[in-house]
Amino acid sequence: MSLRAPAVSLFAIAVMLSACSKKAEEPEAAAPDPAETASTEPGEEREAVFTAPEQTPIDAFTYANYNDVRVTHAALDLDVLFDEKILDGTVTLDLEYLNSDAETLVLDANDLTIRSVEARTNGDWTQATYEMGEDDPRKGSRFEIALPDRADQVRISYHTSPEAEGLQWLSKEQTAGKEHPFLFSQFQPFYARTMAPLQDTPAVRMTYSAKISTPPELIAIMSAEQDPDGERDGEYEFKMPQPIPSYLLAIAVGDIEFQAISKNVGVYAEDYILDASAKEFADTPKMVTAINKLYGPYRWGRYDMIVLPPSFPFGGMENPRLSFLTPTLIAGDKSLTNVVAHELAHSWSGNLVTNAVWPDAWLNEGFTSYVENRVMEALYGEDRAVMERALDMAGLKRTIANAERPETTALKVVGVEHPDEAFSSVSYAGGMFFLKFLETRFGREKFDAFLKDYFDHFAFQSITTEDFLAYFEDNLWAENPDAVTKEEITAWVYEPGLPDTAENPVSDAFEKVSAQQASWLAGETAAADIETSAWSTHEWLHFVNTLPVEMTAEQFLALDDAFDLSRIQNAEIAFAWYMKAIAGGYERVMEPLESFLIRVGRGKFIYPLYGALKANGKGDWAQEVYARARSGYHPIAQRRIDAILAGVGE
Ligand code: BES
Ligand code: ZN
Repeated sequence: MSLRAPAVSLFAIAVMLSACSKKAEEPEAAAPDPAETASTEPGEEREAVFTAPEQTPIDAFTYANYNDVRVTHAALDLDVLFDEKILDGTVTLDLEYLNSDAETLVLDANDLTIRSVEARTNGDWTQATYEMGEDDPRKGSRFEIALPDRADQVRISYHTSPEAEGLQWLSKEQTAGKEHPFLFSQFQPFYARTMAPLQDTPAVRMTYSAKISTPPELIAIMSAEQDPDGERDGEYEFKMPQPIPSYLLAIAVGDIEFQAISKNVGVYAEDYILDASAKEFADTPKMVTAINKLYGPYRWGRYDMIVLPPSFPFGGMENPRLSFLTPTLIAGDKSLTNVVAHELAHSWSGNLVTNAVWPDAWLNEGFTSYVENRVMEALYGEDRAVMERALDMAGLKRTIANAERPETTALKVVGVEHPDEAFSSVSYAGGMFFLKFLETRFGREKFDAFLKDYFDHFAFQSITTEDFLAYFEDNLWAENPDAVTKEEITAWVYEPGLPDTAENPVSDAFEKVSAQQASWLAGETAAADIETSAWSTHEWLHFVNTLPVEMTAEQFLALDDAFDLSRIQNAEIAFAWYMKAIAGGYERVMEPLESFLIRVGRGKFIYPLYGALKANGKGDWAQEVYARARSGYHPIAQRRIDAILAGVGE
């Protein structure tokens, strides 16, 4: 282990300046062994505890040879063909050689039909030979192109498949307006390769441009520069001048409209929900201001959102300049807008500074959950922020208690077989509570300044957990050596379970809810007399989540009669209630649950619901509902629920 100089080495700076992300070659750095590291007196030059890898680690979920040749720009030229449910056209890739002897370019492809490949050498285009490897059900295919004489560009003519996992094609009947079809993408973690042959790994960043042709009555929008007031004519052009990882490519096409919220913030949606969306998200410009103030400038130009059809499988997706959102956020009272704060926060944590490999996903999601909570605090005050943290802590404890493999409960996840495994509430809430711990120990002022510098230092790079830790060690920790110990840091990052240094968020509002709940459960108060009129969504969630599992049918009925919980419109509260009802065998919930499952495709709700139905003797009923709902779900959700109902995985 080497002695660490106080500042980052000149070599490291040169590497950072010369490339958007560092070269790949070496496997991931292992967790440090605390026994090997010596403790020192403050001020003395210390032996480094955490060491950044010299090169970007290998991503296990790509075939790309990005340590030899790197794609730096993708120019897409695609027709959106709704009848065939395919994208058809070309992609031209700019190449940079890291290894001057490289003779092949290896890309990722999944379900793509290739028509031809050309390569450009000294300005001349020639046909290039290529080979498509076997199809792996997870990773797709290795797509290898022979590069004549250090070709600097390749152009691939191809089309996608109607079954592309990253694209959902909705028929016009499946939209709210019922008159036009709809297409939207979801490429995180590794489905961009179902849209175009690419180096589909977060370790590689590229800029992109696109020309998209659609039926003239539809609008195409992408995670890129575009004119929100542009003409609706079926020909659209886009430019993303900042280098991004491929999972942040995104496209949506449909009969959508735009509504401005402020000069630089707006929302796209189908007409039926456009006004409601603009109202629900009216505070977004204030959120941008709050993060700018804390962590430095927003570097992506405009910030727009699109509210997608209900089959969108996530709450939100942080596509740059254009967050994708589920319509289940439109609750009418701004109570679920933490998801907007979250997706916006990714413009710093995730999109600006990106995990190079998926086992480090907590660098994206944990940092983002922390920033999200700071935004909620800045806009709505500590009471709301602490309620959200208390709900997150309860969820985190449930996840840790139920984990089948404890090694999945450390921030840096080991043994990841599918990138999705790195996205549990451990990477989200666990990451947030780790940063809260650091905030508490170093003090808010120093920690805020440190985070701001961190985003600036690693801007437009793809990094690892160890890059973060080494930077933390060289800066915040070196200046305040007594604030934390290496054992405390190591416990958070590399050891399973919840460290005992975690905050215990206490909400006064929740305590009052719990007192009323206890009084009702003890038979001292009638359900109708529980004073709920001033409860926020969060207080309701706390009330429902903390109901005991062994409630009687009478108790379920009493709550339902008093508050109509089985028919509540707020999707989060409905979901919490359905989960309790399924576990408690409460039958009256089945009918509204059925219509919820047919209407909503958001994975956070439907995966646990199908799982709970199966686990509670309702597997046949779940299969029947799923048979009707499946065609409306996104391909990603179909794959997950197929596995849940077959009993494989979660
Ligand atoms: N980046 C995620 C969504 C995602 C994760 C897509 C993993 C594909 C693979 C997004 O930022 C997110 O975390 N969304 C959350 C909302 C958040 C407030 C917890 C969601 O969808 O619920
Ligand atoms: Zn996120």
